Amino acid sequence: MPNKFKPISISLSPNVEKDDVLLALNLLIRPWKWKQGKEIEILEKEFANYLGVKHAVSFNSGRSSLYAILKALSEVEGLKSKDSILLQAFTCNAAINPALWLGLNPVYVDCSQENFNMNIEDLKKKIDIQKAQGKPAKVLMVQHTFGLPANMDEIVKIAKENNLILIEDCAHALGAEFSTKKVGLPTEALAKVGTFGKAGFFSFSRDKVISCVYGGMAVTNDDNLARSLRQAQGKFSQPSLFWIKQQLLHPILLYYFILPFYNFFNLGKIILVFTQVSHILSKAVSWKEKKGQMPDYFPKALPNALAILALNQFAKLDKFYNHRKKLFEYYAKELAGSKFVLPKIETGYKASYLRFTVKHPDAHKIIYDSWHLPRGKAGKENILLGDWYTTVIAPFDTKLETMNYKNGSCLNAEILSQITLNLPTHINIKEKDAERIVNFLKNYK
Ligand SMILES: Cc1ncc(COP(=O)(O)O)c(C=O)c1O
Repeated sequence: MPNKFKPISISLSPNVEKDDVLLALNLLIRPWKWKQGKEIEILEKEFANYLGVKHAVSFNSGRSSLYAILKALSEVEGLKSKDSILLQAFTCNAAINPALWLGLNPVYVDCSQENFNMNIEDLKKKIDIQKAQGKPAKVLMVQHTFGLPANMDEIVKIAKENNLILIEDCAHALGAEFSTKKVGLPTEALAKVGTFGKAGFFSFSRDKVISCVYGGMAVTNDDNLARSLRQAQGKFSQPSLFWIKQQLLHPILLYYFILPFYNFFNLGKIILVFTQVSHILSKAVSWKEKKGQMPDYFPKALPNALAILALNQFAKLDKFYNHRKKLFEYYAKELAGSKFVLPKIETGYKASYLRFTVKHPDAHKIIYDSWHLPRGKAGKENILLGDWYTTVIAPFDTKLETMNYKNGSCLNAEILSQITLNLPTHINIKEKDAERIVNFLKNYK
């Protein structure tokens, strides 16, 4: 029986299924398994095998993974504080902060209106500006936004020509692939994103392709870098038992107490806010990070309990992928020819389909309506659509000055942040839910 109080939500532990919840419950009563255990190594090995890379080193988030990569680059490649890192606007502060925490200077590159990834022309321009100022950038970090692979053909070439160390931000893109033929390799096979640069990192946080609430993986084929990453993992140490308990409680409370009663006189919503304010549950992004500061649970290694949750999700990657693709195609078919401008996937590439992002002049109103319309109005409410990203650096209350972002420096990103919204593709969205989402959107055709 469908639960009428439970929203159709893009967020709120989207990937969690009953087996994940039972596993979290099982772990909750076995604290001796929380910090150390064999599953950390098993996850790292399985991940490296899957990706076809030599080294995979786990951390407690994509943020810690990126921090570790940049720190390792300071040891292996002489990256120094104040050096510039090129990265794209239309992103999350989680992708910027690790660079700020190490004293690096983020230089923002605009994105493409078509696929939300780095705009190649603007990248070339920003490289030249840095050179003209006598401070050539050292690092280029490319993001595969919403799981649509960036044009690695061009990016790899530009990185080589300009002596830039290439890092891939694959936080959205586990499973996405790009044709290697285009980067001059002999075969036409697709290569997984995360394998093109000096290093890459993935996120297993709550809204990503797979999730263990907080988790991440740094990957590389470079032995020296890997050694340095491994040392960083040891130095960072494990998060506290309190923090691990917060993460284990997350799927359990969401599944049994928050989501089923979300709209029952707002009880679920109240429980969610209360549990976060009282630190029973963690937040995805802390208030400190919105000001460029570092919370004390970063950078840290991945605890064994979360590696166990991640392994359980990793085993379901294909199932998740097929489901996401099916929903993506469904939305594309149903919204074709409407006022919604659909995401573009180049033929021959494989996306991870994390979110179905559309453009619409009234995007913010649609998001607002989807969150706020009372039951009965428009008849298709109780839907929580995605707001990635309603500002150039999300979440919306991130202090752009502390991120070093100058208004007007990335116009496409600024425009996109006004006209985009995303639809859910995760495993808990059933065909009926997708149908209701499409019907809701038809009010804005
Ligand atoms: C584009 C992007 N990069 C990096 C990250 C950092 O990942 P994590 O949340 O695991 O720290 C995120 C997610 O927050 C992200 O959206």
